[in-house]
Amino acid sequence: EIADILLRTILDSRGNPTVEAEISTISGGFGRACAPSGASTGIYEAKVRPSDEAVFEAREHLIPKLIELDSADQRGFDETLHEIDGTSDLSGIGANIAVALSLANAKAAASSLNMELYQYLGGAFISQTPLPLGNVIGGGAHAVDATDIQEFLIIPTGASSAAEAVFTNALVHKRIKEILIARGKGCGKGDEGAWAPHIADLEAFEIVNEATTKVFDETGIEVRMGLDVAASEMWDAASGRYVYKNAKRTTEEQIAYIADLTETYNLLYVEDPIQEEDFEGFARITEEVSGRDTLICGDDLFVTNVVRLEEGIRNDACNCILIKPNQIGTLTDTFETISLARDYGYESVMSHRSGETTDNTIAHLATAFGCCFMKSGVVGGERIAKLNELIRIEEHF
Ligand code: PGA
Ligand code: ZN
Repeated sequence: EIADILLRTILDSRGNPTVEAEISTISGGFGRACAPSGASTGIYEAKVRPSDEAVFEAREHLIPKLIELDSADQRGFDETLHEIDGTSDLSGIGANIAVALSLANAKAAASSLNMELYQYLGGAFISQTPLPLGNVIGGGAHAVDATDIQEFLIIPTGASSAAEAVFTNALVHKRIKEILIARGKGCGKGDEGAWAPHIADLEAFEIVNEATTKVFDETGIEVRMGLDVAASEMWDAASGRYVYKNAKRTTEEQIAYIADLTETYNLLYVEDPIQEEDFEGFARITEEVSGRDTLICGDDLFVTNVVRLEEGIRNDACNCILIKPNQIGTLTDTFETISLARDYGYESVMSHRSGETTDNTIAHLATAFGCCFMKSGVVGGERIAKLNELIRIEEHF
């Protein structure tokens, strides 16, 4: 039974305010969780409200109705959030309030039972952590004057443990810095800790390729490449073109371009290669690469929403879904989306946001729900909070 709930505004990794929730139970359980925030948010995401105002209102109208609920009844807790919110996009209470409370409740319930969150949610037979998927070069909405493609990602497919995987990604990140400096392209980092050089996308591909080859030579661990194109950010509806610095591509040309990159760089993962309204364009890319092991992943396309995913399934739009709990606002909804994905053979990738806190809950969710990857950057305090938690979780297996 919930004894007490606290909400406060805290700082996120971009220096913006965000919501933190704490829930204590009568039996001594305690859970704390924070809301992350996106920069390249999908238009169909649940709606965030300004933290201070949302916290103030929630203290008045929401929190009193949650006290004495059974924290072990996660569905009931999340249904109550929806009922009190009264909207379809959580704009009543704010998705930031909802996700912080929903996750804090699960953690309080797990803590009451003296269990780790991944055990509480995943059960006794969970025995594997996901591979870390992290961006090493980036631009788009996450850095000024850098690459057009938002994220150049890596996956340490040859790693045999979470610790090895995490350190392999970090080594690639380091090697990329050295290569950039050697090319006279030394630079700072974007919002998620990826290098943000002033280079064209083609050079970024070359550099990541060079770095992963180097790391393979040094360690024998294979590292594959991936992308988050975040194509909604480059889509210009008026002209019907994807606008790059040096090119404008029709949907047809975009599909051919992505298929070509997939083959040239043996991409294992391509997120949002097409804008968020175009299920058919997604389906055509998925079809194009169907002979390969490439995951075509919908982020802005699906926004962790069951209804959007159902439409994707009907259209054979993708074979993978990005899961961001704050896009949908509650743990129950997050779980339902992952369950549907699993039923239809979609892989699930649990993800951070570009604006983050040191909250490490997604490491537990990714493990409990059997996600193939956890997307959470490679370096930086708010990123390593999640990566290091994978190392800790693995020690239990
Ligand atoms: P966001 O970007 O958190 O800024 O939305 C991450 C992503 O697009 O995957
Ligand atoms: Zn994305």
